[in-house]
Amino acid sequence: MSEDRYELYYIPVSLSKFRPYSFVDFDLFMKVRNKLVLYRNKNLTITAEDIEKLKVNKVETLYIKKTDRKKYREYVEKNLETIIKDPNIDTNIKANYLYESAVNVVEDIFNHPRSGETIKRSKKIVNHTVDFILSGPDAFVNLLQIRAHDYYTFTHSVNVCTFAVALANKLGNFDEKTLRELGVGGLLHDLGKAVIDPKIINKPAKLDPAEWKEMKKHPEYGVQIAKESKLVSEQSLLIIAQHHEKFDGTGYPEGLSGNGISLFGRIGTIVDIFDAITTNRSYSKARPPIEAAKFLLEHKEWFDEKLLKDFIKLITVK
Ligand SMILES: [Fe+2]
Repeated sequence: MSEDRYELYYIPVSLSKFRPYSFVDFDLFMKVRNKLVLYRNKNLTITAEDIEKLKVNKVETLYIKKTDRKKYREYVEKNLETIIKDPNIDTNIKANYLYESAVNVVEDIFNHPRSGETIKRSKKIVNHTVDFILSGPDAFVNLLQIRAHDYYTFTHSVNVCTFAVALANKLGNFDEKTLRELGVGGLLHDLGKAVIDPKIINKPAKLDPAEWKEMKKHPEYGVQIAKESKLVSEQSLLIIAQHHEKFDGTGYPEGLSGNGISLFGRIGTIVDIFDAITTNRSYSKARPPIEAAKFLLEHKEWFDEKLLKDFIKLITVK
């Protein structure tokens, strides 16, 4: 098989994703002289010695079959807790693991928005995200660096969750429970888009008035779905409901203004816009964080100014 054909059937996975003495229920392949060969069969435990040997042989990437993608994601999610808690693992590897797990969970949520199971998984991921962010300033910096640079609803949801928790943590005076509620709201803020026609969501051109009207309903749809699950707190619902409200009253769906918008909603608006303009979209190129901060300041009437200044300090810290 020529090299460029690999990607049709296989996915590269960094060796760092495999934990010593973990059970791997999918086949693993490795590249030998530009050919993929079976490295080990599924249903075997990968030992520390196996990993060490691969490292010595300079194997940094293993390959899995595309059809095993789901099993691989389950493997990552299952091992996440051990990884996050292990003091011997680099913050960067933890951030990667966490980010990948979170994006996978969000993808499942969008594919099955009414499954309570996915909402439960999202809460677990948020708990890990909050613990990770609270573990020290390096954690957020790492998450910021590995953030995907193209805009996708899934990665955007994870970014909004991360930014919202990091901002609230910077403000202080929030207990862990509140940070978790904010994180869940952030992760699920665009949940309503899951029930909007994909033709509208993925339209590369400007929406016509009818499409735009439908699009603007996603906060309400999201609240509805989250409420039905009975697993999302009132606090978390606020960020789903209000992340497009603007401080000067020009937002949607309610046109709320000032402190009529909850603190969660005001945080949501800032981090949502920031993430959208710092990632590549079909109609605009990503702006560097400094330029994005300038843009937000030029539109400061949309935001709670005190929160905005704190947020800019957070994302411009090297
Ligand atoms: Fe939204």
